[in-house]
Order: sequence, then structure tokens, then C-alpha cells
Amino acid sequence: MKIFLDTANFEDIRTANDWGVIDGVTTNPTLAGREGRPFREIVEEICDVMGERPVSAEVVATDIEGMLKEAREVSSWASNVVVKIPLIPTGIQAITILYQEGIKVNCTLCFSPAQALFAAKAGATYVSPFIGRLDDIGHDGMELVAQIRQILDNYDNLDTQIITSSVRHTRHIVRAALLGSDVATVPFKVLEKAFHHALTDVGLQRFLNDWEEAGLSIF
Ligand code: E4P
Repeated sequence: MKIFLDTANFEDIRTANDWGVIDGVTTNPTLAGREGRPFREIVEEICDVMGERPVSAEVVATDIEGMLKEAREVSSWASNVVVKIPLIPTGIQAITILYQEGIKVNCTLCFSPAQALFAAKAGATYVSPFIGRLDDIGHDGMELVAQIRQILDNYDNLDTQIITSSVRHTRHIVRAALLGSDVATVPFKVLEKAFHHALTDVGLQRFLNDWEEAGLSIF
């Protein structure tokens, strides 16, 4: 399973990129708004550090003409931009047209299997089910990922990739991988925590103490 970083913060992206664990980045208007910088500058900088790996950047228009105009503009900023389009009727219409133009789309704000099916039929490269927000209202977000996985696997001509989104904790990452999600997009703090285990820290400390006590050295 690929891991994308869900942030528009350049420092976080650079740190996670140095760890060598991220396969892409997803941003959204909320995340971009926190940076206090021009959107284009943010996107271009992230795209540059990510090389050929995909970077999702979202449109904010909701009418078809506006969406298409913004999508074409944003996708011209770098070759690895993936345009994020919300899962609304005009969004599906826009995806159909952008697919024919060869523009990659991440269809965002997906909360049902039927929505995902329509995103895939329209030609979205990715569909993003928001599992944390479903959990927040008492639903089982991961069940949505399971259903979308099954639907997409039922048809050879639907090759949309699932990005498990709105990830809140390590268990979401693990369950996404167990269910065969293609990608999980993860906030920096969740990614950082996913590396840690108390027994790893205790075990390491014991190894280091024993080594020192024995007076050993590698060189
Ligand atoms: C996905 O691409 C979104 O940016 C993100 O996962 C939303 O997560 P949130 O529910 O934590 O805002």
C-alpha cells in the first residue's frame, strides 16, 4: 500500500520525505489555508520536492465551467499535479471531461460506495473515502473502504485507486492495508506515531545498556 502525506506543510513533507516513506502528497483547501502563502507557490514547491510522485491540489469552484477552468490551470503548474474534485454531480461531469483530456483526478469527499462507483465510471484516477469523518458520526468508515474495494475488484474496466482518507490513527492505516486500499493518506502526526512502539524503545535501551556494560564496539 502506498502512503501519501495529508498536509500542505512543506517542513512536514520534507521530514517525511527524508524518512523515505511517502509516495505522494494530498492537500485540501483547509490544509492550504493554514500555510498563509499563495496556493500556487505551495503546490509548486511540494511538486518539486516530490519529483514524479503525485500531489493532489483541489479546485474550489463548484460549477462545471469554473471547475474545468481551475482544474486545467492547477494541472498546468507541474506534471505530477493530480486535480482534486469534490464528489458532486458537476464534479462527476468535470471528471468525465478531464479524463478525456488526460488530466488525472482525485475524486474527494466520498462517503458512500455508490459515489465511488460513479467516480470510477467517470474515469477518476483516485477516489478518496473519508473514513475518519464517518467514524465521527458513528458509522464504520473502514466498511466503506471494504465495499469500494469489492466493487472495483468486480470489474476489470474500473481501475480507480482507493485513497483511504481522513485517517486519524495507526489502526486506520493497518486496516486500510488489510483491506487492500491502494493508498492511505496520513497526517504527519499520525505518520510519526505509527513508527513508535513502547516495546521498541524499551528494547533498544536495554540493548544499548547491555552493549555498553560489556564494553563492546563495532570499530
Ligand atoms: C484527503 O485528501 C483529505 O485531505 C483529508 O484526508 C481530510 O481529512 P480530515 O477529515 O482529517 O480533514
